[in-house]
Amino acid sequence: MRGQSINVALLGCGRIATWFHLEILHRHPLVQLVAIADANQDALQRAKTKAPQANTFLRYEDLLQIDDLDAVVICLPTHLHAAAAIAAFEAKKHVYLEKPLAISPSEVPQVLHAWEASHCIGMIGFNGRFHPVIQQAKEMLDRQVIGPITAVQTVHTSFAKSLPDWKKSRESGGGVLLDLASHQFDLLAFLLNTPVTEVMASVWSQRFEQDSAMLQIRSHHGPPAQVFVSNSAAVENRLEIIGERGRIVTDRFASTVRVLPTQPAYSRVDRTRELCRDSVSLVSKLKKIIAPTAEPSYRLALDYFINCVRESRTPSPDIRDGCKNIAAVFAAEKSAKTGQWIKLPAEDELGASCAF
Ligand SMILES: NC(=O)c1ccc[n+]([C@@H]2O[C@H](COP(=O)([O-])OP(=O)(O)OC[C@H]3O[C@@H](n4cnc5c(N)ncnc54)[C@H](O)[C@@H]3O)[C@@H](O)[C@H]2O)c1
Repeated sequence: MRGQSINVALLGCGRIATWFHLEILHRHPLVQLVAIADANQDALQRAKTKAPQANTFLRYEDLLQIDDLDAVVICLPTHLHAAAAIAAFEAKKHVYLEKPLAISPSEVPQVLHAWEASHCIGMIGFNGRFHPVIQQAKEMLDRQVIGPITAVQTVHTSFAKSLPDWKKSRESGGGVLLDLASHQFDLLAFLLNTPVTEVMASVWSQRFEQDSAMLQIRSHHGPPAQVFVSNSAAVENRLEIIGERGRIVTDRFASTVRVLPTQPAYSRVDRTRELCRDSVSLVSKLKKIIAPTAEPSYRLALDYFINCVRESRTPSPDIRDGCKNIAAVFAAEKSAKTGQWIKLPAEDELGASCAF
């Protein structure tokens, strides 16, 4: 690798890339953003104004021919993830692949094999686990602050005013299981330190195809979890881990982590304590209004990837984690069709197939 910085390219200059990745890569002190690709000329030109030094490509396949390119960040529509990641690994580039890994079971072993054969670094873009509130919750769980965990509940919902066309139907990579449940599967595996083993799901369509889902999840040695995900509900991103000695509640939009008792406050002392805690939270909310900070998890995840590339370190979550994750999404889809609990394939079966 030349000097301190690495040469990076961005594939796909749509919504998420222009909100986060483009700016982060352009300003990163250890990155030269040498090229950007988008099939849409207008999107490409808009991105070029933010990264004037980058060479532009309408076909990402042509961009991958750049010799001294070290790594690519893939922000293409989900139905192109597998093909683009395979092409990048075959071109011997390190890859940061936005979630989820693929849209069909047959793609999973192909991505896995291309990654393994390349000996390149492959990271899947589950930025959620890098968010400071999730990192704090994880640190508390590792210290057993709330004792043995009995259950987990999460809500990850939004009310998207509009969605790209490809996100409106499952066939082209839309649907809330691929879009949001994938994040929740990753958070559960990360926080509880145990793989998801079995899923039961129901899925429904309100404004777009499969835009809402309710899931029950079992993990190896882990507590049961319940997950609600939707692109047609009130904006919320909350996770509650219930333990024998208390509850940890994270709110990503408010940027808060709270440790609450298992019992409601009955005594005057407890109620006064709660009032004081709420006043503290009011102060931090006011501070946020006065000086709002950008959502930090995308920058933290990309920083981590860049460091992994520079130091030749294996990232977590890597491509294998992405395969396990998408296997959970496919299991949820099968469960929604059959009304049954569906077991996930064992880890050593992922390379063969994760078809259900
Ligand atoms: N980690 C997260 O929290 C998070 C959040 C949002 C989106 N995402 C992921 O990012 C990806 C992109 O989502 P988005 O909302 O930005 O979508 P988008 O449709 O806004 O952007 C995709 C871009 O890719 C371009 N494109 C399409 N086909 C192409 C091709 N063959 N070659 C080159 N460019 C092509 C489109 O013109 C578009 O500009 C999705 O996979 C999504 O799951 C992740």
